[in-house]
Amino acid sequence: MFGRKKKTPEIDKEQLELIEYAQKRIRKKKRVYSHFILFLIGSIFVILANTVLGIGKDFKIAGVDWFVLVIIVWLFFLAYHIFKVFVTNRFMGKDWEKKQLEKLVAKQQRRIEKIKTRLEKEATVIAESEFNDEQKTIPESNALNKNLTLIAAAGEDNSLGKDNDLIWHLSDDLKRFKSLTNGHTIIMGRKTFESFPKPLPNRTHIVITRNKDYAVPDGVLITHSLKEAIELIGADEQPFVIGGGEIYKQALPLVDKIELTRVHHEFENADTFLPVIDESIWKEVNRTTHDADDKHEYAFSFITYERR
Ligand SMILES: NC(=O)c1ccc[n+]([C@@H]2O[C@H](COP(=O)([O-])OP(=O)(O)OC[C@H]3O[C@@H](n4cnc5c(N)ncnc54)[C@H](OP(=O)(O)O)[C@@H]3O)[C@@H](O)[C@H]2O)c1
Repeated sequence: MFGRKKKTPEIDKEQLELIEYAQKRIRKKKRVYSHFILFLIGSIFVILANTVLGIGKDFKIAGVDWFVLVIIVWLFFLAYHIFKVFVTNRFMGKDWEKKQLEKLVAKQQRRIEKIKTRLEKEATVIAESEFNDEQKTIPESNALNKNLTLIAAAGEDNSLGKDNDLIWHLSDDLKRFKSLTNGHTIIMGRKTFESFPKPLPNRTHIVITRNKDYAVPDGVLITHSLKEAIELIGADEQPFVIGGGEIYKQALPLVDKIELTRVHHEFENADTFLPVIDESIWKEVNRTTHDADDKHEYAFSFITYERR
């Protein structure tokens, strides 16, 4: 009852079609051959009927004996039969159709390849033009002559922070941040501003938010775009963009310098990241390295980049 199902030999569908087609061709050729034999016998028969038996001896059409005409007409049909089996079939038979189809497919494939190459070229041109457009905004920022510097501390994986806070505590990095930004304008996103317990002393804060009703302590400036923030800088000759991730992303094409603290560790739990610093655009001009110690859980390097 639960015995194995008996296997019936399976034949490939395509193979079956080929066999059927070959059998059909053989039958067609056999019929041509039979037709030819029949023609020979028939011709001999009408010749004998006329010449030996004298059937229709004097019957002529347009001066030609009737049996000659019969043979000519028959010969025409035989020729047509042969033509159909051997010539027309070669041009319009299955093989011919298959070849035509293959040619058509190959032609289409060549066209698809051409279109693909063209699209790839167009994509490259679009990417290049987007890149050039991005570059065009830089002279614009330089024209403002703001000498903007982006200052950030990022892990090896470009991590910046988590849950609106830093992930590490490196006192020498904080000291460096303090000494570099002291007395200057600092531009930041609303979230970074909120990550401070209170505004940092001796610095002009410019906070970017889309919220028109955002309330801030006295002395803190509010803007609603990065461009507006840059315009608000005033006479400060060394303003800084201090983060976070969203603002760094928008500011990177506009700044002239990067002061980066590279923390030599990867922080898997981070949720905010610095955009990649493209070394074909940015040149490292200075680096000092600080090993991990009692006060510093991770080793880190202060790196200064300038535009190439
Ligand atoms: N490691 C570092 O050096 C460093 C430095 C700074 C910050 N951080 C960390 O980074 C994280 C915060 O970064 P984040 O990316 O989440 O936030 P963010 O960049 O500090 O602030 C984002 C906010 O800025 C406003 N904003 C951004 N683009 C704007 C635009 N084009 N126009 C108007 N307003 C705009 C929006 O405020 P509204 O929502 O109010 O509209 C937005 O929600 C925190 O974890 C912080 O500790 C790390």
